[in-house]
Amino acid sequence: MRSASAAASRENKRIGIVPTMGYLHEGHLSLIEIAKLHCDIVVMTLFVNPTQFSPSEDFSVYPRSFADDSALAAHAGVNILFAPEAKEMYPADFDIYVCSEKFGTILEGSFRPAHFKGVLTIVAKLFHIVNPQIAVFGQKDYQQAFLIKKMTRDLDFDVEIVVVPIVREHDGLAMSSRNVYLSPTERTQARALSHSLKIAEKLIAEGERSATKIIATMKEHIIREQDARIDYIAITEPETLAPIEQLLPDTMALVVLAVHIGTTRLIDNILIHIKH
Ligand code: PAF
Repeated sequence: MRSASAAASRENKRIGIVPTMGYLHEGHLSLIEIAKLHCDIVVMTLFVNPTQFSPSEDFSVYPRSFADDSALAAHAGVNILFAPEAKEMYPADFDIYVCSEKFGTILEGSFRPAHFKGVLTIVAKLFHIVNPQIAVFGQKDYQQAFLIKKMTRDLDFDVEIVVVPIVREHDGLAMSSRNVYLSPTERTQARALSHSLKIAEKLIAEGERSATKIIATMKEHIIREQDARIDYIAITEPETLAPIEQLLPDTMALVVLAVHIGTTRLIDNILIHIKH
């Protein structure tokens, strides 16, 4: 990977990286599309990163499908597929990590304490190995993209971070490799996540400005589903992730949530412009 990247740089080619954990869906393909617009060589990385899963999470059962992924990636125009082994990325005495002191411990971080340490560490390593000029991430993992932008600024990576809108199923469910875990009944119940975001959007359009009231209505909607258990619903400033109490005119708000449907934990979010 390093020599391919060095060869591309010698030819003044712009390298774009699309980091993934595989089991590709249309959301990933949209990242590739955007990467192709920004660079000459698209490197997709495929690595189910053990350090971002806690021992109680789904690392061992995380869906994997290398043959399908490589065919899809090639078809979508990926030039290089980089799929390292865990032992190459994490040698036995691996000891140095990247972590966020503040923003990695809120929202997702308060429910998944080691998650962002694992994400930032692997993304930093991939950036060093691939040496890209741009990196493309999905908005579905809003806090992840937020922290990666912060990491590039705070640790002086010369990489432009591009964030691509969420791709949804026909009924609104955000695409995710984890959707495959849902039983047919749970799949129906999972629509409540995106529906609740739409409810927030509608309430705001109708003039509601109290975050507490909006969140309460969203909660009511979600807990109607038998197998739903909410980790959090929050309304925050997109640029700081600070909670918003009262929505102000001509600002943006991020409505973000994490909900278990049965044993599957799903996340989703929406960015809303508060007009007046
Ligand atoms: O979003 C993901 O798939 C992963 O968190 C990432 C960025 C590939 C790091 O393992």
